[in-house]
Amino acid sequence: MTDLSQNQKTSTESRGQWSSNIGFVLAAAGSAIGLGNLWRFPYLAEQYGGAAFVFIYLIALLLIGYPIMLGELAIGRAAQLNAIGSYRKLGGKNWSLVGVMGIVAGFLILSFYSVIGGWVIYYIFEYLRGLISDIVQSNLGGISQDTKNHFVSFTSDTWQPILWHFIFMFLSVCIVLKGVSAGIEKYSKIMMPCLFILLIIILIRSVTLPNATAGIIYYLKPDFSKITGEAMIAAVGQVFFSLSLGMGCMITYGSYLSKKENLQTNALIIPSLDTLAAFLAGFAIIPAVFAFNPNATTIGQGPGLMFITLPKVFQQMPFGNFFGLLFFILVFFAAVTSSISLLEVIGSYFIDQFHWKRSKAMLIMASLIFLLGIPCSLSFGPMQNAKLFGKTFFDCLADLSSNIMLPLGGLLMCFFIRHIWKIENAEKEISSEGQYPFKLLPLFKIMIYVISPICVVAVFLYANTGLFGDILALLGFIE
Ligand code: PHE
Repeated sequence: MTDLSQNQKTSTESRGQWSSNIGFVLAAAGSAIGLGNLWRFPYLAEQYGGAAFVFIYLIALLLIGYPIMLGELAIGRAAQLNAIGSYRKLGGKNWSLVGVMGIVAGFLILSFYSVIGGWVIYYIFEYLRGLISDIVQSNLGGISQDTKNHFVSFTSDTWQPILWHFIFMFLSVCIVLKGVSAGIEKYSKIMMPCLFILLIIILIRSVTLPNATAGIIYYLKPDFSKITGEAMIAAVGQVFFSLSLGMGCMITYGSYLSKKENLQTNALIIPSLDTLAAFLAGFAIIPAVFAFNPNATTIGQGPGLMFITLPKVFQQMPFGNFFGLLFFILVFFAAVTSSISLLEVIGSYFIDQFHWKRSKAMLIMASLIFLLGIPCSLSFGPMQNAKLFGKTFFDCLADLSSNIMLPLGGLLMCFFIRHIWKIENAEKEISSEGQYPFKLLPLFKIMIYVISPICVVAVFLYANTGLFGDILALLGFIE
């Protein structure tokens, strides 16, 4: 064996590689399917005209989601390195800064994501207690009568949420410590199918509730009058966060993929699974909320929907503790398969660059993320009034990472492919050196050169300053 191939072999061994294409697809879909699908998508669909929103979301997915996903996977697989290393290898030292921004974004996202992941485990625990007390015929367990008070008193406590945040981080670390194929891939292969099965069980329960039809009609009836400029921008933003784009996640996952796999079909399957999960989540949630509250004008959003409205729905349902338990297990699977991808993006840099052992890289990074999560957690309680730019610490991190860093990362990636790495090299990688001819190249070019950058700039401006909204208003697109 030549020195070169010996070197390559050792580097693949220490970096890790997916053992199969399906394993990769499930891990990448696991990263994409997360809290964003389960609470944000149903809420956006409800707010922006039901099926009409789903329709524009699909367009945004094709115009932006597909090309950027393909671009990131190609960069990672060409360079066979982490996000920073990939940009540096293909574009020179200055470009590694884009990777740095991605890794910092991952760090920030994971610190608040893990706090919510902790809440989810706590709710699993509470429903389990409820289920046990149902069985022994006492009614002490479960989420107590007033779901809002229950939620507020739990999240505003100092130590409890931090403890659960720790447990969530600990479980995520345990998975990534086992490596790419024996950890991330293996657990995704178990959790993702389970997630879909649980989603379908809850969906069937939800649509068969008395009065569920009102919710189904509400969800499926397209109301195109709600498709404003704002709705379109919300759709683009959702594509970004939901597909884990703009921060090097797909670069890192792509770097573990063998050269013989077809990037074009993979970049199509991952968003399709992600969208399917989001769409089914809407079906599972909206009819249930309407069934018990026929006069609902809104389903509520974010933490409120998941931790207050839905527990109230479960409470009114026969075997509510059982369905509550299934639901939160489902949310846990979604959250943990996303959090391991975030941790992998960060840890892989230290493994590639400084040749740290996986255990050292992951433990140190996870500890730092845990520490940063503490003020996030406290911002629901003791640090509620500590505001930075008028926002709590939690909101600051969430907004900075998803509204600024992700779109900026996506925009720079488009620029990178066009001007630095060059489209010919991207094509070579995407077609696996001609093995799978890239027939959509002309379309891909239009997307990467023009459409995606314009849309991303629009989201960026709108999300951050409201400026774009003003311009749209001026042009008469929105009120
Ligand atoms: N896609 C995940 C979700 O929908 C969040 C995420 C963003 C994960 C960026 C990794 C990277 O919840």
